Amino acid sequence: SKLIGIMGAMTEEIELFLEAMTDVKKNVRAGITFYQGRLYGSDVVLCQSGVGKVNASVCTQILIDDYQVKYIIFTGVAGGVAPELNIGDIVISTECQQHDIDASPVGFKKGEIPFAETSVFAADPYLIKLAESYRPEDETIQVVKGKVLSGDQFIADPEQVAELYKTFNGSCVEMEGAAVAQVCHLNQIPFVIIRSLSDKADREAKVNFTEFTKVAAKRSYELVNHMLKQW
Ligand code: ADE
Repeated sequence: SKLIGIMGAMTEEIELFLEAMTDVKKNVRAGITFYQGRLYGSDVVLCQSGVGKVNASVCTQILIDDYQVKYIIFTGVAGGVAPELNIGDIVISTECQQHDIDASPVGFKKGEIPFAETSVFAADPYLIKLAESYRPEDETIQVVKGKVLSGDQFIADPEQVAELYKTFNGSCVEMEGAAVAQVCHLNQIPFVIIRSLSDKADREAKVNFTEFTKVAAKRSYELVNHMLKQW
């Protein structure tokens, strides 16, 4: 079959999914609650990983080992990095990279995982294809494909954003995607990260994140719904 793991980090990122699910069975592992059930004709396991790369990694490995999910979709919000993107726009990951790994004193590039075969993890072409046919009702919302950057930092500084854009050419920045991507790569599980912008990772990020997380999380949810209905 095609059991699908759906992950979010925060309550706002998973609650709409949980409301829409049927036949829900609940299980807790490593402090994370997993909701097994049905959603738009698919068998899914929904979970709230918690924030950051460690939480995301643990959660991803449990989805793979204990639930044998065949695909993983991460849904949630991010800060904008590409200057043409606005709050509410949606990014479909083409690839993911950790922006905060840095062994440059011993000769590795910033963002490079020492001794690993790759540090940039490609999302699954089929999942990207399911996602990119989405057309929001509001035609002012941009839906783009791009690189998702992740680190254990909430970015709220325009100079840091400019640096991330220049160094890694990211579309958005968040705190889980590249960890999910790396664990999926290690286990050969197809994944995609869907993120709608709650803020632009600048001086207004704190205020905007508070105001726009709910609406951005809903936009990501709508896109993932579209994917499930296409499947
Ligand atoms: N998630 C949403 N906005 C973010 C930001 N500015 N930095 C990191 N993660 C985020």
